[in-house]
Amino acid sequence: MRDAPPEPRAPTARTWAPVLLLAWALSGLEAGAPRVGEPRFREAYFEQLLDHFNFERFGNKTFRQRFLVSEQFWKPREGPIFFYTGNEGDVWAFANNSGFVLELAAQQAALVVFAEHRYYGRSLPFGAPSTRRGHTELLTVEQALADFAALLQALRRDLGALRAPAIAFGGSYGGMLSAYMRMKYPHLVAGALAASAPVLAVAGLGSPYQFFQDVSADFEAHSPECAQGVRDAFRQIKDWFLQGAHEAVSQAFGTCQLLSSPEDLTQLFGFVRNAFTVLAMMDYPYPTDFLGHLPANPVKVGCERLLSERQSVRGLRALAGLVYNASGAEPCFDVYRQYRACADPTGCGSGSDARAWDYQACTEINLEFSSNNRTDLFPEMAFPAAARRRYCLDTWGVWPRRAWLQTSFGGGDLKAASNIIFSNGDLDPWARGGIQSNLSASVLAITIAGGAHHLDLRASHPQDPVSVVQARRLEAAVIHEWVQAARRDR
Ligand SMILES: *[C@@H]1O[C@H](CO)[C@@H](O)[C@H](O)[C@H]1NC(C)=O
Ligand SMILES: *[C@@H]1O[C@H](CO)[C@@H](O)[C@H](O)[C@H]1NC(C)=O
Ligand SMILES: *[C@@H]1O[C@H](CO)[C@@H](O)[C@H](O)[C@H]1NC(C)=O
Ligand SMILES: *[C@@H]1O[C@H](CO)[C@@H](O)[C@H](O)[C@H]1NC(C)=O
Ligand SMILES: *[C@@H]1O[C@H](CO)[C@@H](O)[C@H](O)[C@H]1NC(C)=O
Repeated sequence: MRDAPPEPRAPTARTWAPVLLLAWALSGLEAGAPRVGEPRFREAYFEQLLDHFNFERFGNKTFRQRFLVSEQFWKPREGPIFFYTGNEGDVWAFANNSGFVLELAAQQAALVVFAEHRYYGRSLPFGAPSTRRGHTELLTVEQALADFAALLQALRRDLGALRAPAIAFGGSYGGMLSAYMRMKYPHLVAGALAASAPVLAVAGLGSPYQFFQDVSADFEAHSPECAQGVRDAFRQIKDWFLQGAHEAVSQAFGTCQLLSSPEDLTQLFGFVRNAFTVLAMMDYPYPTDFLGHLPANPVKVGCERLLSERQSVRGLRALAGLVYNASGAEPCFDVYRQYRACADPTGCGSGSDARAWDYQACTEINLEFSSNNRTDLFPEMAFPAAARRRYCLDTWGVWPRRAWLQTSFGGGDLKAASNIIFSNGDLDPWARGGIQSNLSASVLAITIAGGAHHLDLRASHPQDPVSVVQARRLEAAVIHEWVQAARRDR
């Protein structure tokens, strides 16, 4: 019915945070020694302004923003600052899985900072209730970028490194933020490496079927038999449901509850489809512990599991177990507990971080992806704008503003930007939602053959394909050039 978004409120003013709030406390040291096993980073907190764009409602009020810093490789008067713009989760998760940033810091004598995104991890503006309805108004992309800008400037001042060029790094949503950081604050960061950053998709550009089509393509590439097995299993589940054979589904698939309603079927399909999403995104050539514990080449392993069962639904169960039964200790799948449908059809996870991401997917970030059982292997599950609006209004009392991200950050129209590398792996279902061709002499696209979701940000590994080794080499050279040029200009 109501197709247009509601009237925007007063436009946000790009005002600067008062600089007086900048005392930063090294509270990682408060608790004693740095974390065991992670001696490379020191954990610290920064007194961050709550609201960068309004002088009245929150005034001077601040919250504690967490960040990690490593001075291990830094040569103060020579080296640049490598600043990771944190994404939708605990900042340690990104630091632990972005070893390339440290390797590059070792080569280029850089200071490394990983900044946590507001409303995630421990950077909660209003404490534990922050991600409950009624407390999320300060969760926007623009506020997060302003946080990064204020933190970066404070660190520069504090470390006596006012002239040190900074480079923004990020993967996925963090990659979007690193690119936006360069676009909005070019005087603060000399360039950005935006790995697997779906800047087009989140702006609502492109086909809503692209994502699950590309997830499917990874399984089709394994073998036509695997793809057919997936189709057969979904059809079997649907047919059993239509016949009222609910016991058969629960037994063969191993659900904890008896699933019988249409809502149950949708939940089950969402649960299973999400396993494919995870396997495709995390299809790395060696075992990882990023989105759960996964073996090397999980798409291949998933297909092998599927094909090793004679009954297709049992095969699907074995494949889904890679994601939902990694421990081998789940006697059954609790499909409502282990997967929560949210405003992001590619999954939000669970807990506080998931709620914050759900809110972002209900406001600025567009993720209206659908599967159709035609261009993909999955049952038809549509998530059109109207469904998203209804969900977001019910859940958060907000209306998505579908056009805003493109208005604010240009979508794919980045000709006026400079010094950004957009890297994407061709196995990654997010790749086609990002920038895949060179837009100018300094807005570059790198494609990594055989690469999954931001593989290039991960630490070097003996199993790395040659493509990612070359991509990292090019990234290193380009970043080095940006740093040199920024130094000359100062
Ligand atoms: C805001 O911060 C300034 C500078 O620290 C201080 O002088 C002023 O009293 C503060 N105002 C309020 C309302 O807290
Ligand atoms: C990061 O790695 C350390 C050391 O391996 C581990 O203790 C910690 O749980 C990891 N944190 C996250 C969020 O992955
Ligand atoms: C989880 O793995 C264990 C060990 O392989 C298996 O016995 C169990 O059936 C699996 N759970 C499900 C729901 O498939
Ligand atoms: C997918 O489409 C095929 C062919 O039209 C159909 O037979 C099958 O039942 C559909 N599967 C599901 C899960 O709806
Ligand atoms: C973009 O330019 C870089 C550097 O010149 C080149 O290596 C890369 O292959 C180009 N990317 C695409 C997608 O053509």
